[in-house]
Amino acid sequence: MNLHSTSLSFLFAMFTVLASTHITNSNPSFLKYLTHFSLHFFSLSPITATVIAYNSGGHHPQYNRHNNEGKIVTPCEGFSPDFPKDTNTTSYLCVDPNGCCNFTSVQAAVDAVPDFSQNRTIIWINTGVYYEKVTVPRTKTNVTFQGQGFTSTAIAWNDTANSSHGGSFSGSVQVYSTNFVAKNITFMNVAPIPNPGDIGGQAVALRISGDQAAFWGCGFFGAQDTLHDDKGRHYFRDCFIQGSIDFIYGNGKSFYQPKLQLSSARKIKSMNWRFMLEQIYIKENCVLISVANPVHPGSTSITGVITAQGRGSQEENTGFAFTNCIVGGNGRVWLGRAWKPFARVVFAHTSMSDIIAPEGWNDLNDPARDKTIFFGEYNCSGPGANMTMRPPYVIRLSDTQVSPFLNVSFIDGDQWLQPYI
Ligand SMILES: *[C@@H]1O[C@H](CO)[C@@H](O)[C@H](O)[C@H]1NC(C)=O
Ligand SMILES: *[C@@H]1O[C@H](CO)[C@@H](O)[C@H](O)[C@H]1NC(C)=O
Ligand SMILES: *[C@@H]1O[C@H](CO)[C@@H](O)[C@H](O)[C@H]1NC(C)=O
Ligand SMILES: *[C@@H]1O[C@H](CO)[C@@H](O)[C@H](O)[C@H]1NC(C)=O
Ligand SMILES: *[C@@H]1O[C@H](CO)[C@@H](O)[C@H](O)[C@H]1NC(C)=O
Ligand SMILES: *[C@@H]1O[C@H](CO)[C@@H](O)[C@H](O)[C@H]1NC(C)=O
Ligand SMILES: *[C@@H]1O[C@H](CO)[C@@H](O)[C@H](O)[C@H]1NC(C)=O
Ligand SMILES: *[C@@H]1O[C@H](CO)[C@@H](O)[C@H](O)[C@H]1NC(C)=O
Ligand SMILES: *[C@@H]1O[C@H](CO)[C@@H](O)[C@H](O)[C@H]1NC(C)=O
Ligand SMILES: *[C@@H]1O[C@H](CO)[C@@H](O)[C@H](O)[C@H]1NC(C)=O
Repeated sequence: MNLHSTSLSFLFAMFTVLASTHITNSNPSFLKYLTHFSLHFFSLSPITATVIAYNSGGHHPQYNRHNNEGKIVTPCEGFSPDFPKDTNTTSYLCVDPNGCCNFTSVQAAVDAVPDFSQNRTIIWINTGVYYEKVTVPRTKTNVTFQGQGFTSTAIAWNDTANSSHGGSFSGSVQVYSTNFVAKNITFMNVAPIPNPGDIGGQAVALRISGDQAAFWGCGFFGAQDTLHDDKGRHYFRDCFIQGSIDFIYGNGKSFYQPKLQLSSARKIKSMNWRFMLEQIYIKENCVLISVANPVHPGSTSITGVITAQGRGSQEENTGFAFTNCIVGGNGRVWLGRAWKPFARVVFAHTSMSDIIAPEGWNDLNDPARDKTIFFGEYNCSGPGANMTMRPPYVIRLSDTQVSPFLNVSFIDGDQWLQPYI
């Protein structure tokens, strides 16, 4: 393989997931952009691709390369991760696929975390694709997954609702404990992309069911049901989330936001794949990408949905709030549909490409829900943000109405969210 750079090889592996379907045919400009970096990679299946990425030895500059004299240096030579020494409140465990430190699998490191610890355990995860299913049980509190960049470190598995006895357990990574943090790492589900209407193809990349979780600079890659934002208060900053149907779903209370203000991005009228990739490389952003099936021009069919929020009653204080995000990709999709009658989702200051259907939202074809759902938009931009054709239940939020959704107070972040260190 003669890939442009090692971290790119991983990115390609991710996009191979897309290539296995329709996108390469339908989006020549995207393909051209990738071909620029040499893309015979595309003919491989997603899993072969990730496994090859894992085994190629090309990720980490220290591994398996020849030194100046042409001698092969051992994989761990020069291995010197720069994480700090343990303190009385924070300890480190190290995961490396080549066996250069404590563990070779993420699950083994999780298992080594003390139960119900009040101290933080930082699991430092070296560059690589970890092809394993990982569970962080309720007993493993205060765990951090620290990757080396979301295009460099990934945990991938391929369970589906069918293979795991229900979509809720298909997560490649499933987190049930409180105070979980992930930084600079990708969660992937590489199961084949189901067609709309297929049964049992839901494939979760990450399920977060613990309270007070924070995700910084993370990637979430999958198709149907990518991110199961199940329950608890969650913070997503500067993350990239890809999926097709209901790809952010659940009954969590979550705040999604980018690191940078998108002053220049907002000016862009139509967002294509090249633009999206540039966002990945150049800017750190909150990016929501649909990989739903493209539609023929003029078609009014719907091929995907971004959110399916699961607030079931007035008493539940849950919902998803997105601010300053970018919405784009493929298909003709809704911003959300009312999975449960009191679903609550707000998009503010978000750029939306023309993949958003003019009606924008759906009440799950249950007009009784129109009185109880809370779908709001505020000062969004781009062709998908035109609210003229939105159904009456969609709220054009006023300054006052939107204010609870615009900062971390929405998730009581002032009480628990640690600043990024
Ligand atoms: C933890 O370490 C800090 C200094 O590093 C010290 O001030 C503090 O007393 C220690 N706490 C305990 C419980 O040992
Ligand atoms: C947790 O932190 C406390 C106080 O900071 C310290 O006394 C204790 O030894 C730590 N426990 C572990 C398992 O590191
Ligand atoms: C992890 O590796 C470090 C450095 O070799 C060592 O000090 C530490 O005890 C190891 N921890 C575990 C849980 O094996
Ligand atoms: C550990 O978690 C508890 C709650 O689960 C929290 O109160 C505490 O501050 C956390 N400790 C650290 C070091 O994050
Ligand atoms: C996951 O991938 C493995 C290896 O390619 C395959 O045997 C298995 O059937 C796949 N599982 C699902 C649910 O697709
Ligand atoms: C899941 O299982 C059902 C029943 O066996 C089958 O009809 C369906 O095609 C399967 N779905 C996928 C995506 O394999
Ligand atoms: C992620 O990694 C990049 C470099 O790879 C670093 O600049 C950035 O601060 C990291 N961000 C987070 C949230 O860890
Ligand atoms: C609305 O968004 C535009 C950019 O699209 C920004 O310049 C303006 O300040 C925003 N208005 C409000 C009231 O936040
Ligand atoms: C919004 O959509 C309506 C109806 O399709 C159209 O008439 C109007 O020109 C659009 N507005 C903008 C700013 O594109
Ligand atoms: C968040 O917004 C609320 C409502 O506008 C405001 O009262 C609060 O001070 C803000 N909090 C932060 C941390 O900015």
